[in-house]
Amino acid sequence: MGESVRIEIEGKTYELPLIIGSEGEKAIDINELRKKTGLITYDPGFGNTGSCKSAITFMDGEKGILRYRGIPIEELAEYSTFKETAYLLINGRLPNRAELNQFSVLLNDHSLVHEDMQLFYQNFPRASHPMGILSSMVNATRSFYPELQTAEEEINITVTRLLAKVRTMAAMSYKISRGHKVVYPRSDLAYCANFLNMMFDSPVKPYVIDEDVVRALEVFWILHADHEQNCSTSAVRVVGSGKVNLYAAISAGIAALWGPLHGGANQAVIEMLTDVHASGYKVSRLIERAKEKQDPFRMMGFGHRVYKTYDPRAKIIKGMCHKLLNKLHMKDPLLDLAMELEEIAMRDDFFKENNLYPNVDFYSGIVLRAIGFPSNMFTVLFAIGRLPGWIAQWKESLDDPDWRLSRPRQIYIGSVLNHYVPVDKRK
Ligand code: SDX
Repeated sequence: MGESVRIEIEGKTYELPLIIGSEGEKAIDINELRKKTGLITYDPGFGNTGSCKSAITFMDGEKGILRYRGIPIEELAEYSTFKETAYLLINGRLPNRAELNQFSVLLNDHSLVHEDMQLFYQNFPRASHPMGILSSMVNATRSFYPELQTAEEEINITVTRLLAKVRTMAAMSYKISRGHKVVYPRSDLAYCANFLNMMFDSPVKPYVIDEDVVRALEVFWILHADHEQNCSTSAVRVVGSGKVNLYAAISAGIAALWGPLHGGANQAVIEMLTDVHASGYKVSRLIERAKEKQDPFRMMGFGHRVYKTYDPRAKIIKGMCHKLLNKLHMKDPLLDLAMELEEIAMRDDFFKENNLYPNVDFYSGIVLRAIGFPSNMFTVLFAIGRLPGWIAQWKESLDDPDWRLSRPRQIYIGSVLNHYVPVDKRK
């Protein structure tokens, strides 16, 4: 046995193996804990619990490090494309030129959505949130594509279909919600530009592709592509552990991401800043509210379960805000407000003591607004970015010898033995 730890329970000593990761992190392997001791562990929110071993993404929350397959996020944001980063996450290495070209061809070939699916969109109330629509449409996609013969073929085609079609589905929900004509993907446009064109092109006002805008979206998606075992990725893994099809597992991930404590925070941040801007509310008052224990208000875009320092992605996105707004000759009062808020919070003891720093969602809405997206599409954009990560994590779980059906235990605190009382005998 390698390294281990000893624990003493009711006078008896037990030895439990230690698992040591490639970056030196250590975990107590409690696979045999209940069998050996009759005890389970208790860890609501799983802040101290590792659900798997993974080779996809490494985060160091104290140092603010984020790497995909060992490559620092800063390098990928500087030099890579979203398509290439997706390939890296899913296949474990950067593609060569031929593989990248082949991947592009497949993403183009599968980018159309079955025409009958447009009928689904027509029947959602116009005010439906696009995250609810996207989760439903991804789940419904399974019905249009019968299971293929071999598992390998099924996985590869399904993965490509999802990556290719998710943009088209997202853009369709936007166009149809506004009563506009759906714009189809074009074979002459690359991944990000194609999505922008499907979103903003119109018969009376052709969309002009601006390479700086395309690059901003590309970097936004690279930064969102994976983040180890976050809430929505855990949802994909848990749902996938029942051996359900990938569309259903991804649909669960989209639903989990929607929440304002998770991916929905990017929309919540802009709504918070907009309220402050419109009401003339003092930023310092917002800081005070965030500190009041009995006040349910949370400073959206601040804090993180893992990062106890500045989110490395937020640093890059903050820089992108200035670069993009300057390029588009735009000013956004919400950016000034966000920077003022960050400056005051960073000096505040409560924020410092609780390691509350801006996270990926704090500045991302500024970039998305500048590109022209409505705030209710922000989390959809997060979902498109996170899709390669969800797929990579799901695929990894299939090949993991330790992976089994996810089924946590509990500590029961309800009534002890009780008996049925006929209704006429009840008080
Ligand atoms: C994402 O996990 C991931 O990797 C997620 C993500 C990804 O890429 O997948 O990074 C994307 O979801 C980023 C997070 C987006 N959410 C928000 O911006 C919402 C606002 N943030 C919080 O609600 C909160 O910070 C969480 C939910 C993100 C984390 O909550 P935790 O783990 O409970 O935070 P903590 O235990 O470190 O908090 C320490 C204290 C707590 O006080 P007590 O309840 O123990 O007394 O700080 C308080 C918290 O209440 N606190 C906040 C706060 N965040 C934590 N107080 C005010 N405002 C906040 N934003």
